[in-house]
Amino acid sequence: MRTLIKHALGSDSPMDSITIKGWVRTRRDSKEFSFLEMNDGSCLANIQCIADAGIPGYEHIGKMSTGAAVGITGKLIESPGQGQKWEVQVTELELIGEAPSDYPLQKKGHTPEFLRSISHLRPRANLYGAVFRMRSRLAHAVHRFFEERDFTLVHTPIITASDCEGAGEMFRVTTQDPTNTKAEKPEDDFFAKATYLTVSGQLEGEAFATALSNIYTFGPTFRAENSHTSRHAAEFWMVEPEMAFCDLEGDMDLAEEFVKYLVKDILENNEGDLDIFCKFVDKSLRERLEFVVERPFQRVSYTEAVEILIQSGKKFEYPIEWGVNLQSEHERFLTEEHFKSPTTVYNYPKSVKPFYMRTNDDGKTVTAMDLLVPGIGEIIGGAQREERMDVLKKNMEEHGLSDEDYWWYLDLRKYGTCPHAGFGMGFERMLMFVTGMKNIRDVIPFSRTPGSCEF
Ligand code: 4AD
Ligand code: MG
Repeated sequence: MRTLIKHALGSDSPMDSITIKGWVRTRRDSKEFSFLEMNDGSCLANIQCIADAGIPGYEHIGKMSTGAAVGITGKLIESPGQGQKWEVQVTELELIGEAPSDYPLQKKGHTPEFLRSISHLRPRANLYGAVFRMRSRLAHAVHRFFEERDFTLVHTPIITASDCEGAGEMFRVTTQDPTNTKAEKPEDDFFAKATYLTVSGQLEGEAFATALSNIYTFGPTFRAENSHTSRHAAEFWMVEPEMAFCDLEGDMDLAEEFVKYLVKDILENNEGDLDIFCKFVDKSLRERLEFVVERPFQRVSYTEAVEILIQSGKKFEYPIEWGVNLQSEHERFLTEEHFKSPTTVYNYPKSVKPFYMRTNDDGKTVTAMDLLVPGIGEIIGGAQREERMDVLKKNMEEHGLSDEDYWWYLDLRKYGTCPHAGFGMGFERMLMFVTGMKNIRDVIPFSRTPGSCEF
């Protein structure tokens, strides 16, 4: 029976016999014995193993170099060394898979750019092992949050015919032959119409919320926007709750509660992985996360936010005035310099937001909300939805959307319409926030960005 290194290190008593399988991080030899630092990815820490010369398998010790897969049987004993409680006195070694000397992850610091070029080996680097264990924990916490609050998980489709955000940044899904010189019509395509990879599960989510009350969807989403920023990916994961009989206020409450819950969960259940981020990525990370859990978030209307930005007298690259969308520099000023706290901005101008948001009585603004966090900017975007058929139809017309294409979405207003609201949280942006990692490419197992789709 194999024991994971995290369980071996967490043992509360010695063990007469233990088997460990993993990869060699480093090896040091002397005449009579060798030290092997072993890691199996179950936790950040390595376990130190001492193998006396002459034990079975020792004849292959020369090939048990950094990166090699090795099986170890021995005794778990108290370690006389500093900083570790347990080590393994090896009785038998097995070389499972060697790693020639060109193994790219020799023990030294590597740049994030280099590690991206070897994304298939990258999770073996300490920092990235920690990132992806954190990613798994954060995903579990997302599901737990909604499960505890009676939300039903809905698997919304990935292939769709509608453009939820109306930004036209969609990838086509087609079986038509691009080398065919005769133009083929969408009617002749696989789905008999033009289809795309979804940018959001929201519209389908609304269909389920207006049946099951509180739902959420959590899955991959795709955007063909040509942004080369550290916060945009072409493929990313989004968490989208949708609540029937809920208004903007309730939506903002849930978003804030959600962010606090996830941060608290990561602070409490990170099995030592948070330490590596605090040490090598961002020294003030823990303090900032604790602050987020303890302090109330700020809330400010778009109109007030624009006032604050103008009053600040700061020179922005994109000049600010009422009616323009907030840029990342504006968002970061509000949350990092002005409020120094996560901040929700609500009631944006109608003209900068998608068709489905509810028009306010002023006729100029919609019930949109964005939750901004220091270091990143927008992490959540949501809204109360337009539930009034006539107003929705008018908005669609203004956005150039046809009733026929959205017939089923309009049906949700025809039959038993009700106020409802929801939001989308960028899962990778949240992961960047809790790890301090600066680039979205470094928190996705295999990133897809403009000009790059290796692996
Ligand atoms: O603000 P967005 O575009 O909102 C929607 O898609 C709504 N339909 C969600 C809803 O109400 N159900 O996207 C939501 C979040 C953003 O706040 C951001 O965190 C993330 O998704 N996001 C991206 N993350 C990584 N790469 C991209 N290209 C992203 N675009 C949006
Ligand atoms: Mg948004």
